[in-house]
Amino acid sequence: MKVTVLGAAGGIGQPLSLLLKLNLPAGSELSLYDVAPFTPGVAKDVSHIPTDIKVEGFSGDDLGKALEGADVVLIPAGVARKPGMTRADLFNINAGIVRDLVAKAAEVCPEARIGIITNPVNATVPIAAEVLKKADVYDKRKLFGVTTLDVIRSETFIAELKNTELRSGSISVIGGHSGTTILPLLSQVQHVEFSDEEIKSLTHRIQNAGTEVVEAKVGAGSATLSMAYAAMRFAVALVRAAQGENVTICSYVEGDGKYAPFFAQPVRLGKEGVEELLPLGTLSAFEQAALDEMLPTLRAEIENGVKFVTEA
Ligand code: NAD
Ligand code: LMR
Repeated sequence: MKVTVLGAAGGIGQPLSLLLKLNLPAGSELSLYDVAPFTPGVAKDVSHIPTDIKVEGFSGDDLGKALEGADVVLIPAGVARKPGMTRADLFNINAGIVRDLVAKAAEVCPEARIGIITNPVNATVPIAAEVLKKADVYDKRKLFGVTTLDVIRSETFIAELKNTELRSGSISVIGGHSGTTILPLLSQVQHVEFSDEEIKSLTHRIQNAGTEVVEAKVGAGSATLSMAYAAMRFAVALVRAAQGENVTICSYVEGDGKYAPFFAQPVRLGKEGVEELLPLGTLSAFEQAALDEMLPTLRAEIENGVKFVTEA
């Protein structure tokens, strides 16, 4: 399996490349691309780590070479937030970056699974879908918004709050990836119980966790290290599924349209990407109200993404 990272020299890209070198199945290939000219150096550096994964690095005009034969393409290319900004404020710059990178992937590796990390994810994923449709290669089973960071934050914060062991896979986070569109289904967590007050404050903390990091980094960017870990976990799941394992994850995908055209939810992955959309389960009254309230925002952000391509 070949995994290509676009934006590999950045704050997320570099630690993600390191974690992929350490965690992809033996025999995988890693292809690193960024507009930054030192990207081949990042690849050279990572390639000295003794794992059975071949690494190549590309920059500048070599995007096509980086994408040749890719089975999985991860996109963290683009600008990050500074204090006072929302993810939507990144749209003007990042929409075009995602559009152009996905257009090249559509041409060079049309069957690859694509994971979009670049914000605003609620809009950049619909942008990618429209670009793939234009190129006549869209397969909704293979396009993902990477929302794993919301899941790992939830796991961490639950363990911290309740002083319990960490349980991977113990929570679904649904909706989208910005503010109130991030909805952790705390009522479904099996191993702990929360008071109403805890549910309210923990939900708010998970929804605000990106801003927590942006503010703590005082202008130097947003989450990079935890995001790199989250993206590695997501990519390994995709690769394992492509190799025949049954894997369940939460991701922002084009689903059945019940709530919005794109929606983060639990999905079962298989060889060709999303094999099955899994049910959300029973929502508490608090979660149902939060879901109803977020939908106009989520739908508007999706519409912005679609229009960026269709009305260009
Ligand atoms: P960064 O500025 O540190 O790195 C971005 C990299 O993208 C840079 O190396 C830059 O050279 C590269 N780049 C820019 N345009 C490019 C292009 N056309 N082709 C290839 N590379 C290009 O930013 P970062 O901290 O790594 O964040 C990247 C993006 O990820 C941001 O949009 C950020 O908001 C988003 N993000 C998403 C999540 C999530 O949960 N999905 C979490 C954290 C950050
Ligand atoms: C996050 O959740 O940390 C990312 O989406 C980055 C951000 O801007 O908050």
